[in-house]
Amino acid sequence: MEKLTVDGVFEAADRLRDLLPPTPAWSYPVLDAAVGSRTIVKHENVQPTGAFKVRGGLNLLATLSPEARAAGLITVSTGNHAQSLAYAAARSGVSATIVMPRSTPAGKVDAVRAWGARAVIEGADMAQAAEFAVGLAAREGLHFVNPGNTPAIVYGHGTVYLELLQAHPEIETLYLPVGSGSGLAGALLVRDALAPSTRVVGVQASGASAAYESWRTGTIQTVEAHTFAGGLATGTGFELPQSVMRDRLDDFLLVSDDDLRHGMSLMATAAHTLCEGAGAAGLAGALADPARPGIVGFAVTGGNACASEMAGLGRVAAGV
Ligand SMILES: Cc1ncc(COP(=O)(O)O)c(C=O)c1O
Repeated sequence: MEKLTVDGVFEAADRLRDLLPPTPAWSYPVLDAAVGSRTIVKHENVQPTGAFKVRGGLNLLATLSPEARAAGLITVSTGNHAQSLAYAAARSGVSATIVMPRSTPAGKVDAVRAWGARAVIEGADMAQAAEFAVGLAAREGLHFVNPGNTPAIVYGHGTVYLELLQAHPEIETLYLPVGSGSGLAGALLVRDALAPSTRVVGVQASGASAAYESWRTGTIQTVEAHTFAGGLATGTGFELPQSVMRDRLDDFLLVSDDDLRHGMSLMATAAHTLCEGAGAAGLAGALADPARPGIVGFAVTGGNACASEMAGLGRVAAGV
């Protein structure tokens, strides 16, 4: 397994400079009051695909071998990684196939097709969809992209936190949503190089704790995923990000689906921002942290709330 270094994040930032403008980071007084600390919110929800994952896809496509480009890509995802590869492949003139489990909301399938990718709906969950994708890759000679264990993707995702910590070195605790852990691994590389005194805390849904359990036990764990927050519901730990998290992560918190819904509602009312469940996990972690966080930073990692997430948000905001 490749050993990841922060240089990969710096190189990714150079590649992305002409492809994506830096995203804004703002503070909101009402949110500061709710968190009890100054809070800096980085807006990845304004990316062209609505999520930070576009950075990983674009960095991957920029570094792909000519053979893989010619073969075409295949990956597995329910949402934002899917849109990221579909978008990046279309920009580079590479064909992309995305295998999505049957539970994927129709809007997410439509979004992938709208970027020009082939969407194949297979499998009851991510594990079955992944197995199907690996088989299809072998049958059709496609280049399989593992969503969590691909260095170029981790490096691309790390650029969120490079921008954030360069602009706001005063952040004392950074909270990150965790699914595969690719964003968290990138953030840890950056933190160690740029802001060693900043605490980094991972946040996952208590109903989908595979990355948390893998980190806690030091071995890759598979745990059934039961959460409405698709981006957090990977069902398994991933070796590459875990190899970075193992010795460097300061803390890892589990939050409930209600905590995530409350975070979504607070972002809507206090920070004028629609986020999906996974995108609210940073805020939910800050609110749940028993430690004093000091100045808080987190990214709204995605704004792709599906219809049922928006309906749940409406109920929480109305207090019913
Ligand atoms: C909006 C959002 N936030 C967070 C995550 C978790 O990111 P990672 O898989 O890098 O841990 C995802 C994953 O898809 C996501 O879509």
